[in-house]
Amino acid sequence: MSQPIESTLPTNPFQGAIGVFDSGVGGLSVLRAIHAALPHEHLVYVADSGHAPYGDQSEEHITQRTLTVGHWLAGRGVKAITIACNTATVVAAKTLRDQTHLPVVAIEPAIKPAMALTHSGVVAVLATRQTVQSASVARLVALYGSDKRILLQGCPGLVEQVERADLHSAETEALLRQFITPLIEQGADTLVLGCTHYPFLRDTIQRVAGVGVTLLDPAEAVARELARRLAEGGGLSSQTQSGQLQFFTSGNLAQAQSVMSHLWGAQLTVQALP
Ligand code: DGL
Repeated sequence: MSQPIESTLPTNPFQGAIGVFDSGVGGLSVLRAIHAALPHEHLVYVADSGHAPYGDQSEEHITQRTLTVGHWLAGRGVKAITIACNTATVVAAKTLRDQTHLPVVAIEPAIKPAMALTHSGVVAVLATRQTVQSASVARLVALYGSDKRILLQGCPGLVEQVERADLHSAETEALLRQFITPLIEQGADTLVLGCTHYPFLRDTIQRVAGVGVTLLDPAEAVARELARRLAEGGGLSSQTQSGQLQFFTSGNLAQAQSVMSHLWGAQLTVQALP
């Protein structure tokens, strides 16, 4: 593990920061890309782990959680919100955008880029049940899938494995085999990681899928879009020192501390979401 992240925050540590949230720890894969692309920005990350997984819950519940966390961030003075959760995006991004004046940048499965990469003409999307059943994904399939096959695979149970930082066990690998093997047998050569928890399983996914299969994670594209939106509105930080990072969870604090530090690769201080 590398050095702990220093915390010398301005008076209101949220003022001018970028709020990033997910149903749990998975959005750290997006936070990592944002921190790499925008190293001078203060970032506030909320893991709604006390309510994860979103993917097996009702649209009403997901919308209510997205609004609760979004309003909490907005109320503290962040300058932009990133929804680092495909499930929250497809269910509730529009409602959140309707209720805030802040820029809201959201992640959704990288179906369009996958279309350009496939040689076999078969692409598979791994995501939560709510995401694969959503109207947003149906729209992306209708838009980009006319001359190719798109297989949609819900993966219940995977989010829970990542929430426990159980990335390499036999149980996790068996779950992945159950979901991925039939997709490869149907000719898929490109797998879209349609849930922000799944990049943490990348090694195991690649091993199960085979080395020739391309894995697509849109986190860097989200970071670029966030940078573009901030630049467009004159909202990029002008400071030259590294941005500060703050982490919150609605789940068990000790577990969040341990799992998030493990996934981030550095010792983090995680606070309880008030
Ligand atoms: N990381 C979330 C996503 O991208 C997981 C949703 C869940 O909690 O089921 O979809």
